[in-house]
Amino acid sequence: MSLILHSPLDMHLHLRDEKMLENIAQASAHTFSGGLIMPNLVPPVSSKEEIVAYKNRILKAIGKETFTPYMTLFFKSTYDKTFLESVRDEITAIKLYPAGITTNSEGGVSGFDIEELRPTLEAMSELGIPLCVHGETNGFVMDREAEFVAIYEKLASAFPKLKIIMEHITTKKSVEALDKFENLYATITVHHLMITLDDVAGGMLKPHLFCKPIAKRPEDREALLRVALNAHPKVMFGSDSAPHPQHAKESCGCAAGVFTAPIALQVLAELFEKNGASQEKLQAFVCGNAQKIYNITPLPKKVVLEKKPFKVPQLYSGVVPMYAGEEITYSIKEVYNGR
Ligand code: DOR
Ligand code: ZN
Repeated sequence: MSLILHSPLDMHLHLRDEKMLENIAQASAHTFSGGLIMPNLVPPVSSKEEIVAYKNRILKAIGKETFTPYMTLFFKSTYDKTFLESVRDEITAIKLYPAGITTNSEGGVSGFDIEELRPTLEAMSELGIPLCVHGETNGFVMDREAEFVAIYEKLASAFPKLKIIMEHITTKKSVEALDKFENLYATITVHHLMITLDDVAGGMLKPHLFCKPIAKRPEDREALLRVALNAHPKVMFGSDSAPHPQHAKESCGCAAGVFTAPIALQVLAELFEKNGASQEKLQAFVCGNAQKIYNITPLPKKVVLEKKPFKVPQLYSGVVPMYAGEEITYSIKEVYNGR
């Protein structure tokens, strides 16, 4: 049995830089037609020169693959309209991190004073630049995202024309917010569709499943599944595939991030099939919805998956993927660049 996906997109992707970029970019570029590239490098991507240079490094790393890096800029409240006009054509979105909330986010926003953010957000709204947000407060770890929903709602009503994407949502409360505000959208990862906190810390601790935001409760996962499997038009796939070297994960002080790029589509295919969700819904979740939300035209690519066991390698260039060493039921059979 085979399944064809057209131009799958990964609308939240960490490709890193230097050796790591060179080592892992292929894993996404082989099976995806494009990805929204996160800007949390050291230092964060925050000027036109940095965006252009990073995009070129990515293009070099992916070689001959058909893959569009949709670039993002690291949000700063110092960006004015003139600056944003000058970078408009180079970026697809701007990513906002609360200061210190996750990997390399130290230069992010503290306090969330709407008046301080207003000039930049108004200019983004006028220029039609979407705002992607890592929505977590610095409260108790299980409550961080739910607490942040109040901030999403404040932003959504203060800037009704600004498209706001709640990145990697993990809670029922965020799912509910989607239908309350026209300008709120969301990405959902494959790992948050598959696991709860129990899988991370309920038995032996699983560092390779540790990420920010942390996986939540069964009812949260069910809420995510409901909108993903139905391809709710305001949600799209964003893997948040976030590679860290094996030693940084298997250490005292484990880095946050799950590396899913090489297995994401296979696992989604199995998940949709198991839950009786149609191929059309999967196609919308991994491409059509993002195309409409971001108003992008992905490069043509045809990914053929087949129902044949795939033993997930233990390592990809020193990075442990999700399901390392385990067997998953779908494999990538062929990829055609073009129609
Ligand atoms: O788990 C995570 N890892 N969450 C993030 O938001 C960032 C990411 C990373 O860059 O490693
Ligand atoms: Zn991320």
